[in-house]
Amino acid sequence: MPLNDAPLLRALAGIRPETTPVWFMRQAGRSLPEYRDLRVGTRMLDACLTPDLAAEITLQPVRRHSVDAGIFFSDIVVPLRLAGVEVEIEPGRGPVFAEPVRTASDVDRITAIDPASLDTTQIEEAVRLVVAELGDRTPLIGFAGAPFTLAAYLVEGGPSKEHLRARAMMHTDPESWNRLAGWLAEVSRTFLAAQRAAGASAVQLFDSWAGSLSPADYRAFVAPHSAAAVDGIDAPVIHFGVGTGPFLGDMRLGGRAAAVGVDWRLPLDEAVAVLGPDVTVQGNIDPALLTAPWPVIEAHVREVLRRGAAARAHILNLGHGVPPETDPAVLTRIVELAHSVRTEPAAEAAR
Ligand code: CP3
Repeated sequence: MPLNDAPLLRALAGIRPETTPVWFMRQAGRSLPEYRDLRVGTRMLDACLTPDLAAEITLQPVRRHSVDAGIFFSDIVVPLRLAGVEVEIEPGRGPVFAEPVRTASDVDRITAIDPASLDTTQIEEAVRLVVAELGDRTPLIGFAGAPFTLAAYLVEGGPSKEHLRARAMMHTDPESWNRLAGWLAEVSRTFLAAQRAAGASAVQLFDSWAGSLSPADYRAFVAPHSAAAVDGIDAPVIHFGVGTGPFLGDMRLGGRAAAVGVDWRLPLDEAVAVLGPDVTVQGNIDPALLTAPWPVIEAHVREVLRRGAAARAHILNLGHGVPPETDPAVLTRIVELAHSVRTEPAAEAAR
């Protein structure tokens, strides 16, 4: 079977496969004991830049759960590390930058780095190892952070709840904001292009924190930079954000996104009513339900599948990432359930 017939790639092309493809954001990593064993003694970003380790961690959840796609094990801040920016990922906290980028001169300093100069050798090597192992049955999804979500960390210097400093910069110094976001788009695009060149079949742009923006700010200060991050990437794009219901239609990036990821707050049929018939939806199992008794989870997953049938095609996923305390057996069971339910033909689903 050629890779293009894989259910995930068919769904992205707008063809409803016989069963719904399923993968999980954050499937590679924290909830898996075999991951924790491998990671002992290696810092997160060093693991990302060690090709055989990154490849093995990418493959672990594919072997364990039989998901319909691998997601490349890396992080949204890896291309910034490759650009020479001083960043670490603190366990339990997230990305932390030695020098936050807050003023016009900070922006001058960081944008002086040429995104085309990033050495992506280790990324490409890791992707090639993964793709060789996955063969022509399972596609690999590459990914990058969207400019706003990267800026939310970079301007603040670390994780924050409301991303006030990044949002303030848009209004206090829009020129600096646009230069910074434009540069971040180029950095993420370089990262995506490397993964694509080495064999990733699709890419996901994570704008996890876009939900903190007003629709007007999203449109004026963010969407054009997100579109630039995927410009010229010749692969289907999945565009994901949390809390983006108020401007979900804009997440289509003017038709550039093959699929839009929806969080757990918005039922998929309501998302489809906003998004229209020519885009695939991805989502939206509530991560909070993963610790519920199985009958509760099963009923919820069936409901998500039923509502997802309103779309031209549906990729089953969580509404956000796998929580670290998740029992991996529950994820395996969700995959088995999804694969046991036959999808309705699109014409019937639309009724
Ligand atoms: O999805 C996958 O399994 C593939 C790998 C992946 C990671 N990060 C590995 C990781 C992906 C796709 C990401 C993307 C990412 N990184 C996002 C967007 C997705 C999302 O969840 O919203 C964001 C916001 C980041 C930044 C980041 N990196 C955070 C907030 C954290 C968590 C810090 C913590 O420990 O709570 C990280 C660290 C991180 N990235 C881990 C993993 C497996 C945990 C690190 C560890 O195991 O020590």
